[in-house]
Amino acid sequence: MDLAAAKMPPCSCCTFGACMSQLEYSASLTAEEYCRLRAAVGWPELPLEEAREGLSHSAFVAACHKGRDIIGAVRIVWDHGYIAYFSDLMVLPAWQRRGIGRELARRALAWVGEQRRPGWKIKVVLISTAGNEGFYKKLGFTERPYDGMGAGMDLWLQ
Ligand SMILES: CC(C)(COP(=O)(O)OP(=O)(O)OC[C@H]1O[C@@H](n2cnc3c(N)ncnc32)[C@H](O)[C@@H]1OP(=O)(O)O)[C@@H](O)C(=O)NCCC(=O)NCCS
Repeated sequence: MDLAAAKMPPCSCCTFGACMSQLEYSASLTAEEYCRLRAAVGWPELPLEEAREGLSHSAFVAACHKGRDIIGAVRIVWDHGYIAYFSDLMVLPAWQRRGIGRELARRALAWVGEQRRPGWKIKVVLISTAGNEGFYKKLGFTERPYDGMGAGMDLWLQ
């Protein structure tokens, strides 16, 4: 893990550390890149094989690269019915607050919207990390609890 590179990303086109040109969005995300992002945003390490399985069974993945460097990613886990789980939106710290998270989220939500068939509604659920609720509210998400909906809850099996 090259955290120094994560804090000061190299730029191939100019002298700025986090220049916004030449950012590319695609569905290409390796398990190694996913784990690199997790480490850079301070999330717990996952076995590479577990990360690979999770990615390969995700319904949708979007990633942002600059050249060969991973900058950010998001994924959607979907049951092919009314529940889609918006998961693992991550942007390298040095690249945050530049609109990359919003663009990744926009692509993921647009993809979910496209899966609807006539008469369908799909609920996109997520668990916000602490302090990022405001980011999701700007995307249109409603913070729980509301209207009889309780808190989100977790159970870790380890
Ligand atoms: C949360 C995260 C993905 C946001 O990505 P980002 O690229 O920094 O966000 P953007 O620059 O696209 O922000 C879009 C808008 O949300 C706002 N915003 C960003 N982070 C915010 C926050 N924590 N609280 C409130 N507003 C926020 C921005 O100011 C911007 O507002 P604007 O449209 O009025 O200009 C990023 O901070 C991150 O990767 N955090 C670490 C991993 C993490 O916790 N992910 C969330 C998992 S649930």
